[in-house]
Amino acid sequence: MIPQDFIQTLLNRVDIVDVIDRRVPLKKAGANFQACCPFHNEKSPSFTVSPSKQFYHCFGCGAHGTAIGFLMEYAGLGYVDAIKELASQSGMTVPEGAAPDPQRVQQVASLVELMQRAAQYYRQQLKLAPVAIDYLKKRGLTGEIAARFGLGYAPSGWQNLQAVFDHYDDTALVEGGLVIVNDAGKRYDRFRERIMFPIVGLKGDVIGFGGRVLDSGEPKYLNSPETPLFQKGHELYGLFQARRAIRDAGRALVVEGYMDVVALAQHGVDYAVATLGTATTPNHLQKLLRHTDEVVFCFDGDSAGQRAAWRALENSLAMLTDSCRVGFLFLPAQHDPDSYIREHGKAGFEVLLSQQIVPLSSYLAKELAAQHDLTASEGKSAFLKAAQPLLSQVSAPGLALMLRKRIAELAGIQQNELETLWKIEFQRKRPANTPLRTPRPAPVSNYRRMLRALLFQPALARELNNALLTLTHPDASALQGVIELLQQHPHLETAAVVEHFRNSALMPQLQQASSEIMVWADDFDAAAEFALAREQIDTEQHNLRTANVASKSLSTLTEAEKMELQQLSRRKVRTEK
Ligand code: CTP
Ligand code: MN
Repeated sequence: MIPQDFIQTLLNRVDIVDVIDRRVPLKKAGANFQACCPFHNEKSPSFTVSPSKQFYHCFGCGAHGTAIGFLMEYAGLGYVDAIKELASQSGMTVPEGAAPDPQRVQQVASLVELMQRAAQYYRQQLKLAPVAIDYLKKRGLTGEIAARFGLGYAPSGWQNLQAVFDHYDDTALVEGGLVIVNDAGKRYDRFRERIMFPIVGLKGDVIGFGGRVLDSGEPKYLNSPETPLFQKGHELYGLFQARRAIRDAGRALVVEGYMDVVALAQHGVDYAVATLGTATTPNHLQKLLRHTDEVVFCFDGDSAGQRAAWRALENSLAMLTDSCRVGFLFLPAQHDPDSYIREHGKAGFEVLLSQQIVPLSSYLAKELAAQHDLTASEGKSAFLKAAQPLLSQVSAPGLALMLRKRIAELAGIQQNELETLWKIEFQRKRPANTPLRTPRPAPVSNYRRMLRALLFQPALARELNNALLTLTHPDASALQGVIELLQQHPHLETAAVVEHFRNSALMPQLQQASSEIMVWADDFDAAAEFALAREQIDTEQHNLRTANVASKSLSTLTEAEKMELQQLSRRKVRTEK
């Protein structure tokens, strides 16, 4: 581990503007710098670099990071190499112990090698197995496509890999997910009698496998477990093969199954990728939006497919920008993309793509409307209540506005009534000293407001006590995480805070919040914003508590609750004055 403080010093020492400008010439634009984004194709610049916060953000594709992250993304360096490169540029030496644990590096490298060797073995076995070849042929695949995806076959037998590897008892085989040890300590191959789909990482290495049974056995698909190389929520099957085609087509198609990706490619639709038996994560979408502005989810026509689509919608909201298009293609109920394209061919499939994509905004509105009785006030208010947490995740200002307009319309109210109801304040009184350039606050939770202010001015964490929050809102967990970090390392600045959460699940929230503070003027009164949001959270929680105690009848209250009620209402009187 590289010490937190070294990263802070390093990020203080280098200027991200220099680091980027040397590779991507930047132009001054107000307080920030801009260029056309090096990570996606665009004609007008949305790639923005903040000298005061020391990070970059692309408002087009969502690419985001510090100087370290930029070198990783742009120059393809690993984390430690990026740090070394920056350190050498500024005459610093990376402290001892910072070098990656050589054992660990060795371990990952040897896992990659093991996976490669296994993939090769499975490919060879496919050639020797007429049953498997027949199966693929029956599913309409040619040898050429099988080769493009490196398809293979794991034959029957419990320990075939013993002949492939010198040391079948090497723990690396277990760690890579190729071999399983049972309770009795006996080792056997994970994949037997299955068509093997190698999962390829972005560098082109095999990082995992999916295996499909030939007959109707269970489970239909068996996947590699999570390993040091392979995390399902981050990988998309087929992305490595599809990258070019996605750029050329200007869109990426997300499907559910391995066979869907392969069958689509067989018919010439080669810009499809699949999630790996998991819901689409924000990370998945973010990855795709680096390659293209348009992402279409095309799930099976059955009810599981419908559920997957809704999950994808929920997990996309925070990643949307005003220049991307996310849509849904709903296939007829009995079809999946594989069966559809086999029946209707490329042309038939592309007719669907050109005529039937439902934009995310319409899907959201339609689905919510269908779940509520919009002819009754009760249905309308429940509809609004369901819409609110979804819309509050959308930070793309244009899209958020359009969504509020649509939701208000469906509920039969005015847009400003909806905004009042949701307490979206556009012309909030400016705290003293706040220059006019302060952006309009987007509809964000008070936690996110606190988080943004804290990222803007990390020193604010020093005024907090531990007992602040016990909450489940995603912005609240991010806020909590940042507060905890700053309590341990009170001197970290924005870029180092963001860097700390590089591989954390909280990254989407942090990324969102830090992109939002990009446009804040340097003398923005973050302390006032922080205090205001905190006060509102207090009030919300107080009101909740009061409502909760007050909803019980007096006779059922315990003595303690009676006292609490008294105190709560006293405070209420005080705050209302
Ligand atoms: N899946 C899985 N484990 C299972 C079943 C499914 O991981 N036991 C994942 C696989 O990634 C699979 C995807 O979910 O590709 C979709 O599953 P399903 O719709 O059941 O299969 P199909 O893709 O239609 O597979 P096939 O056409 O081969 O029957
Ligand atoms: Mn199928």
